Amino acid sequence: ALISMRQLLDHAAEHGYGVPAFNVNNLEQMRAIMEAAAQTDSPVIVQASAGARKYAGAPFLRHLILAAIEEFPEIPVCMHQDHGTSPGVCQRSIQLGFSSVMMDGSLGEDGKTPTTYDYNVDTTRQVVMMAHACGVSVEGELGCLGSLETGMAGEEDGIGAEGKLDHSQLLTDPEEAARFVQATQVDALAIAIGTSHGAYKFTRPPTGDVLAISRIKEIHARIPNTHLVMHGSSSVPQDWLAIINEYGGDLGETYGVPVAEIVEGIKHGVRKVNIDTDLRMASTGTIRRFLAKNPKEFDPRKYLGETIKAMKGICLERYEAFGTAGNA
Ligand code: G3H
Ligand code: 13P
Ligand code: NA
Ligand code: ZN
Repeated sequence: ALISMRQLLDHAAEHGYGVPAFNVNNLEQMRAIMEAAAQTDSPVIVQASAGARKYAGAPFLRHLILAAIEEFPEIPVCMHQDHGTSPGVCQRSIQLGFSSVMMDGSLGEDGKTPTTYDYNVDTTRQVVMMAHACGVSVEGELGCLGSLETGMAGEEDGIGAEGKLDHSQLLTDPEEAARFVQATQVDALAIAIGTSHGAYKFTRPPTGDVLAISRIKEIHARIPNTHLVMHGSSSVPQDWLAIINEYGGDLGETYGVPVAEIVEGIKHGVRKVNIDTDLRMASTGTIRRFLAKNPKEFDPRKYLGETIKAMKGICLERYEAFGTAGNA
């Protein structure tokens, strides 16, 4: 059944678990997420970016998620729009039938230019009024994703600040977070703690100076009733990285957010954990390896079928580690 994010995250807070929010663009990702959820009895958040709507087409994307709900009627599914860059984008998603939207007012409509606090409050509050009137939940964001090592947002295309960010933009301030939630009435708040989108988050396994789990604790202590969201939370699995690099890829050496650190965040108010890159890596590694080892195969169902299994493996691990399993 389709449920709102608020319903799901309230349950998660009450029972002390977190929910991975996987990005979805295609059938294979959708199947991997749903099969893993059904196997572990987990509630689901699937999220679609503007890029996903452009890739699949809005009606295909909508019906992909509706198909998941039809095939797995026992699994609660939240259909979330990731990184809306304007109230208009959020409005169109609400019209499409999404049960939750993100208004990311930390960046302008280009998804690149950092904004002022007042702009963020204004746009987010507009979306909350519109969405709540329709029974739709809203995620806001305060602070900018980006590396505490370099000050850069990381992702070349897609959502991420352009140019160098300063330290105060890279770490969400607890007092400002309290004011923001009070002023906007968002259902969930995405915070900046040193993570960034994509595969290049950390040049070495992260320590507390570059991955500020301590900041989550400070924010949670200040606003204990607000559901916190971690973006850029792929773990960049070293086994998939090695497979990609072994079979013709060139991602170099890079590190993500360790699952154990996310679990620590979940103990301190993190309820939604955004993951896209890990499924992309499992998928790419699978295809590279399969085609290298099976040069005579040309049926896409062979290698795409393998990507479902690989992505499902990641989903299963996250549902178990975050305590989502058993809560559908
Ligand atoms: O916001 C980042 C997510 O990984 C979505 O990426 O905009 O390439 O679909 P995308
Ligand atoms: P990753 O790139 O770490 O998977 O983050 C995804 C994300 O935050 C989507 O909003
Ligand atoms: Na989001
Ligand atoms: Zn994000």
